[in-house]
Amino acid sequence: MSIPNAAQANSWNGPEGAHWAASTGRTEGRDSALHRLLFEAAAIAETDRVLDVGCGAGETTVLAARQASRGHVVGLDLSRPMLERARADQARTGLTNLRFEEGDAQVHPLGDGEFDVAISQFGIMFFADPVAAFANIGRALRPGGRLVFVCPRHMARCAWYTVPISALTGPPEPLPDTREPGMFSLADRERIEEVLGGAGFGSVMTTAVEVPLFFGQDAASAAGFFLGTGPVRAILDDAIMTPDAARTALEDALRPYAGPEGVRLGGELWMVTARRFSRRPPGQP
Ligand SMILES: C[S@@+](CC[C@H](N)C(=O)[O-])C[C@H]1O[C@@H](n2cnc3c(N)ncnc32)[C@H](O)[C@@H]1O
Repeated sequence: MSIPNAAQANSWNGPEGAHWAASTGRTEGRDSALHRLLFEAAAIAETDRVLDVGCGAGETTVLAARQASRGHVVGLDLSRPMLERARADQARTGLTNLRFEEGDAQVHPLGDGEFDVAISQFGIMFFADPVAAFANIGRALRPGGRLVFVCPRHMARCAWYTVPISALTGPPEPLPDTREPGMFSLADRERIEEVLGGAGFGSVMTTAVEVPLFFGQDAASAAGFFLGTGPVRAILDDAIMTPDAARTALEDALRPYAGPEGVRLGGELWMVTARRFSRRPPGQP
C-alpha cells in the first residue's frame, strides 16, 4: 500500500485510531442532525455508486449503503483498527452492497469515473497534498459526479475543541489558521475553494452550519473520550497535570453540556458540495 501521508497513517493506526475505533460506530443515530445535513446535500439515489473517504468506523458508509440500496458503497480509510471496527459493524447490519478498502485517499487506486458521489464526514482534512488527494478522488467520480463533505471551521468556533482544552490549560490561544494536515486544515472557505479548484472540481459551494455533536452518554464517558484524543494526550504528555486531575477537570467542564441526549457540544462546520468537471483540469494526465 502506497502511503504518502505516513505520519497520519502512523497516528490513525496507533493510539488515535484504536481510541476512535473503540469510541465511534456504536450508537447509530447519535449524530443524526449532522447525518441529515450530509445526506440531504449528498442526495444519494438508490442506484448510486458511493465513495466514503476517511470512513473511519463506517457509520456514514452504512447509512450510504442503505440509501444506495441498488448501488454500492466503498468506504476508504488508512486506519486498520477503524476498518476492523467498520467491518465488524457491517457484519451486524447484514448489508452486502458495501465494502471497505484500506488505503491513502491521496493515491489509492480508485478507478476512473467509478463513482457517482463521494462523501466524507471529517475524513478529508489530513492530506499532506490536498490538491493531489482531491484530484485522485475527482478522477474516481464520473464527469459531473458529486463531492459532498463536512469539515470544521476555525477551532475557536468549535466548543468540542475549546471546552476540553480550556478545562486543562485555560482558554486556548487563538491559534493561527493552519494549512498543515489536521482537523482544522480546511477551516477557511477560500482554502477549500482553492484546493478544490486546483483539483479540478467546479460548482463549489461552502455553507456554514452549526451542529451539536455527541461525545458520550454522560460527563464521565465524554471525559473518557476526550482523554484519548490527540490534543489532550499531547497536554498529558507535557505532564501539565496528572491523568486523574485531567479526568476530573474534563468531567467538571463537560457536565453543563450533558442532557437527555447525552453530552453534546456545538461547532461551526462547513458543508461543502462540488462537482467533477466533465473535462480534466489543465495539467492532469
Ligand atoms: C476524524 S476521523 C473521521 C472518521 C469518520 N468519517 C467519522 O466521521 O467518524 C478521520 C478519519 O480519516 C482517516 N484518514 C486520515 N487521512 C486519510 C487518508 N489520507 N486517506 C484515507 N483516510 C484517511 C483516518 O484514518 C480517520 O479514520
